[in-house]
Amino acid sequence: TKRSSQVAEILMGNQAMERALALLAAGEVVAIPTETVYGLAGDATNGQAVARIFETKGRPHFNPLIAHVASMAMAETIAEFDPLSRRLAEAFWPGPLTLVLPHRAGSNIHPLVTAGLDTIALRMPRGFGSDLIAALGRPLAAPSANSSGKISGTTAEAVDADLGGRIKLVVDGGATQVGLESTIVKAEDGELRLLRPGGISAEEIEAVAGTKLLRNNDAGIEAPGMMLSHYAPGAAMRLNVSTLEPGEALLGFGPTRAAGAANAAAFLNLSETGDLREAASNLFSHMQALDRSGARTIAVEPVPYDGLGEAINDRLARAAAPRDS
Ligand code: TXA
Ligand code: MG
Repeated sequence: TKRSSQVAEILMGNQAMERALALLAAGEVVAIPTETVYGLAGDATNGQAVARIFETKGRPHFNPLIAHVASMAMAETIAEFDPLSRRLAEAFWPGPLTLVLPHRAGSNIHPLVTAGLDTIALRMPRGFGSDLIAALGRPLAAPSANSSGKISGTTAEAVDADLGGRIKLVVDGGATQVGLESTIVKAEDGELRLLRPGGISAEEIEAVAGTKLLRNNDAGIEAPGMMLSHYAPGAAMRLNVSTLEPGEALLGFGPTRAAGAANAAAFLNLSETGDLREAASNLFSHMQALDRSGARTIAVEPVPYDGLGEAINDRLARAAAPRDS
């Protein structure tokens, strides 16, 4: 279960659990699988550990992080739940939904996690993450396991290639199930605002909430980490193409191809059958693979906006945006 790497150990199963617990208890950061993307996890109550998360990612700003919990009881010690948020937690936790809630006074979360906000983002992951948090008995702060500005890692290999030289452990849980980050919502006065589309579609949330999600973020930047050029491959991206230019790699969707597809420098299909769940789970690994093909531009066929298509189009737009650096 151990493979060679730059510095990081790559472990699975019980070995991974024991090593992760020891490192986290010592204030170190470890990369762990969740059902959405891999997370770069540290003890959310330990300021040194949280500072190491920012340092390891090379994050230019102290953007607030999501605190991950293993139980409703743990969540209640950290945040105050209004009835609507509680209903969503009951319906979707554990799972790819993050709730932004008022931060409870006197919680043991280190202030660096919230970057000085009086709210906190909370999520209960499925699988290894929850087991780890329960065993540690403390919440974990965990942004996606990627250097700032890079694509979120969805396999242990991708995480190791990006961060392996800077961390001691990557827990290998295979390819993540959902493939993109959690949906972030915030309840305010009985209304629900979508701060980031993600692994649970707006329609699924609206069905449980019984209310429409507000989308336009007229109240200012509410998810400060959502810089436009966040998900950036090295190649340029050209979206919604119906005709391929010479030399471009093609990221396809569905059974029908853009004109000129036969001449693509490289080709991968997000989903042959047009299944948005499958497309979401393939999105980051396919972008990375086409990036590695060396093509200067990745052309992307149109992806519909319904269901998980909203989150897929959001990540594609970020990857295509002008780069900060
Ligand atoms: O699926 C996920 O959510 C993954 C896995 C690892 O759990 N995590 C993740 O974390 O995507 P990160 O740090 O890459 O994104 C967290 C987002 C950022 O855009 C941040 O600005 C926003 O959550 N956020 C955190 N706290 C917030 C708050 N109090 N109010 C509004 N937005 C907040
Ligand atoms: Mg991220």
